[in-house]
Amino acid sequence: MSDPTHLPLLQLRGISKSFPGVKALAEVDFTVRRGEVHALMGENGAGKSTLIKVLTGVYQRDGGSALFDAHDINPKTPQDAQRIGISTVYQEVNLIPHLSVAENICLGRQRSKFGFLNWREIRRRAEKAMARLGIAVDVAETVANCSIAIQQLVAIARALDIDAKLLILDEPTSSLDEKEVERLFGVMRKLKDEGLGIVFVTHFLDQVYAVSDRITVLRNGNFVGEYEAASLPRIELISKMMGKELSEADFKAADRKEHQRGETPLLHLENVGRRGSLKPLNLEIFEGEVLGLSGLLGSGRTETARLLFGVDQPDSGTTRLDGNPIKLKSPRQAMERKFGFCPEDRKTEAIIPNLSVRENIVLALQVNQGWMRYVSRAKQNELADKFIKALNIKTPHAEQPIRLLSGGNQQKVILARWLASHPRLLILDEPTRGIDVGAKLEIEKLVASLAGEGMAILFISSDLEEMVRNSHRVVVLRDRKKVCELQGGEISESAIMHAIAKAES
Ligand SMILES: Nc1ncnc2c1ncn2[C@@H]1O[C@H](COP(=O)(O)OP(=O)(O)OP(=O)(O)O)[C@@H](O)[C@H]1O
Ligand SMILES: [Mg+2]
Repeated sequence: MSDPTHLPLLQLRGISKSFPGVKALAEVDFTVRRGEVHALMGENGAGKSTLIKVLTGVYQRDGGSALFDAHDINPKTPQDAQRIGISTVYQEVNLIPHLSVAENICLGRQRSKFGFLNWREIRRRAEKAMARLGIAVDVAETVANCSIAIQQLVAIARALDIDAKLLILDEPTSSLDEKEVERLFGVMRKLKDEGLGIVFVTHFLDQVYAVSDRITVLRNGNFVGEYEAASLPRIELISKMMGKELSEADFKAADRKEHQRGETPLLHLENVGRRGSLKPLNLEIFEGEVLGLSGLLGSGRTETARLLFGVDQPDSGTTRLDGNPIKLKSPRQAMERKFGFCPEDRKTEAIIPNLSVRENIVLALQVNQGWMRYVSRAKQNELADKFIKALNIKTPHAEQPIRLLSGGNQQKVILARWLASHPRLLILDEPTRGIDVGAKLEIEKLVASLAGEGMAILFISSDLEEMVRNSHRVVVLRDRKKVCELQGGEISESAIMHAIAKAES
C-alpha cells in the first residue's frame, strides 16, 4: 500500500454528474492501470465523453472520488489536469485553424525569452513531436490547409508534447484511414510500453480488439462492468452496451432485395473533373439505388461529392439531370433541385451549435421551400419528434441546443436534417462515423427503405463491411480517378480492396 506503483494509475469511484434534465453519470467506477490501453465503451450518449471531461476538469463532478498516481485529485480546469500528467485529445478536435501546425502543437507552452517567442525552438519541438508519430508534415503549414486526418494527428502530437502519464483519446481514429490508424496504434503500443496508461474511446469494434487490454462498458450513465478484452466476445460486448441479448443473426445484412432502379439515370456525369482535385470521370446515379463510393482518404470521394453538390465547380465535362445539362454554381442551386449533402465534418460544416435540435432538423427543408414559405411550428414539432424517435436521438427534448448533445447524437441530427428534406439525391459522406453499432444498423435500414421509395443515394464510407452491406453498385476511386465499378454479386470487401490497392496499369 505504501508503494504507489502497486496502485492503479487512475481510480475513479462513484462518479456522478447531472445536467439539467439529464443524469449523464450515475456512480461510475473506472480504473486504469499503468502500461495498458483501456477502452471506454458505450452507446451514443452513454456518458463516455462526460466521464472524460469530469476527469480532466472540463466539468466538475457532483459526487465520487478520484485517485491519480496515488493522490486525490479534483482538477478544476484542463490545465490543472495537464499539470498532473493527464493529457487529452477530445472528440471534437480543437485546433486553431489559421495558425501553423507548429504553433498548434506548442501553443501556450512555449518558453519566451524577454517576451519573444523562439520560433526555431517551437519548430524544432513540433518537428520532434510529429516525428514521434512518424508523420511527415511541414510544421510551418497552416492547420486549415491540412486534411482532417493530419489535424487529428496534430492534436495527438500536442497532447503528447507534455509529460503525460495518462493519455486520453476520445474517438481519435474516426477520420483516419487504415494506414494512419495502424500508425497511431504503433504509437499507442510504444507509449504503453513506456508505462503510460491510455484511455481509448471508439465505436470501431475491430480497433477495440486490436489494441485494448481492458474494456469498461457504460450504459445510460451507469457502470456496467470491466472486462479483459481477450475474454469478452464481441457479441457480448455489444449486448452489454445495448442492454439486451443478441445473436449473430441480428448482424446479418438486411436482404439486399431486388431493387427497382429507374430506367434512365437521375444524374449522369460525362468527363466531369476539376483540375487538381478530380480527374475527369463518368458516373451515373439512378433513382432507387444506393451507389457506394469507395477509396482511401484523399482518393477523391469527398471531391466528387463536392462537385455533385455545387460546392466546387467542374472545369470539364457535362452533368445531366433527368437528361438535361445543368451547371450548379452553389449548394443552394443543388438544394433547389432537391439534392441533399450530409458532409463528413459535422463540426465545421454542418451543425449550428446554438440552434435547437428541432431547428437543426428543419433547416434544409426550410431552405428548400424558400424562406417565404415558413414551415409551420406544428410541422416542425412533428418532424423533430418523428426523427428523434426514428434515429433514437438522445436528448431531453427537441428544444435542447444541439451543442449539448453527445457527438454521435449530433451526427444523427444532421442526418435527420437531410432525411427530413426528402431529397431526390442524397449524398452521405461517412454518415455513421461516431455512431454506435445499434444506431448504425437502424440507419442502414432507413437508407435501404428510402432507396426502396425511389431516392437516389450516394454512400461514401471508409468502412468496407458497411459499403458491401449497403450498396447496390460500388464505384472505386484511386488517386482522384475512377478505377473500377462493381455490380450486385461482384461487390465484396476483397474486390473493393483489390481495386483500391491495384498498382497503376
Ligand atoms: N453540457 C451538457 N449539457 C447538457 N447535457 C449534456 C452536456 N454534455 C453532455 N450532456 C448529455 O449527457 C449525456 C452523455 O453525453 P456524452 O457526451 O458523455 O455521451 P458519449 O458516451 O460520449 O456519446 P457519443 O458516443 O455520442 O460521443 C448525453 O445525453 C448528453 O446529451
Ligand atoms: Mg462522446
